[in-house]
Amino acid sequence: MTTPLTTVAFDTLANLLKTKSGLVIGMDKLYLLETRLGSIVKREKLPDMNVLAERLRRPGSDALARDVVEAMTTNESFFFRDDKPFAHFRTQALPRMVASRPPGSTLRVWSAASSSGQEAYSLAMIVAESTALLGGRKVEIVGTDIARDQLTRAREGLYSQFEVQRGLPVQMLMRYFRKEDPNWRIAETIRAMVQFREFNLLSDLRALGRFDIVFCRNVLIYFDQPTKSRVLEAISSLMPPDGLLYLGGAETVLGITTRFAPMPNERGVYGVTAGAPKVAMPMRMAVVG
Ligand SMILES: C[S@@+](CC[C@H](N)C(=O)[O-])C[C@H]1O[C@@H](n2cnc3c(N)ncnc32)[C@H](O)[C@@H]1O
Repeated sequence: MTTPLTTVAFDTLANLLKTKSGLVIGMDKLYLLETRLGSIVKREKLPDMNVLAERLRRPGSDALARDVVEAMTTNESFFFRDDKPFAHFRTQALPRMVASRPPGSTLRVWSAASSSGQEAYSLAMIVAESTALLGGRKVEIVGTDIARDQLTRAREGLYSQFEVQRGLPVQMLMRYFRKEDPNWRIAETIRAMVQFREFNLLSDLRALGRFDIVFCRNVLIYFDQPTKSRVLEAISSLMPPDGLLYLGGAETVLGITTRFAPMPNERGVYGVTAGAPKVAMPMRMAVVG
């Protein structure tokens, strides 16, 4: 029989997750703690999660805390998830941004919770097919995530048969992937278009530079309202007045911030509002990592 989690241990874990990653976990999610932290308890040869929580309260437990945060992330992702945002990016966002920027300029696109890379690579495939439209303008795609294991996967660009069957059109599979039995490896041309780096959305986002287009999908759902507001407002301050934000199907800006407003007749696409602070940074900032 497993030892029940004490209230003190639960509070330790919940506070750690909230402060380090924004993840809000209620008593109803106890089972998630048990299933996801079980391997750390085992690896550390601890008797149970109460002892894990006690270890986390000790000074010098930063590495263990990182592992706990990472183990608690939900990393579900797939290529061209929900279709519509990607169709909008291809048919609306890119043409509009191209029209208002001179040849030679660089558009910066951010996949703000990139997980195993499918979102950023979906954007890269669209960009690769838009060379004529871009007319000499460059597109820089940055994928960031808090989970290092996911970043390693993303950089590797190796996907299972199951993963390439979820959302990826077969023509794209044939054009941009090579079979490495039993998996599929993304083409180097697409891989090289995306720069992945470790980044916590709760930290100072200005280190990433400005972004014209931000995909911040299926991550805000895990945060409480003040954290959602803080992150969205920080994102808005990185964007120009015509910047576009894409959120997940269960996410919205309504009631959370006035720095973005829904684009008319579009679901999940938001424009920067006049109330958002103006971007006060050079047109391009180096991204290291
Ligand atoms: C469900 S996935 C979303 C992936 C992709 N955006 C999509 O929609 O398919 C959520 C990702 O958010 C990341 N994440 C959670 N909290 C984060 C934080 N505070 N900073 C950066 N990334 C975070 C997780 O590691 C996970 O990979």
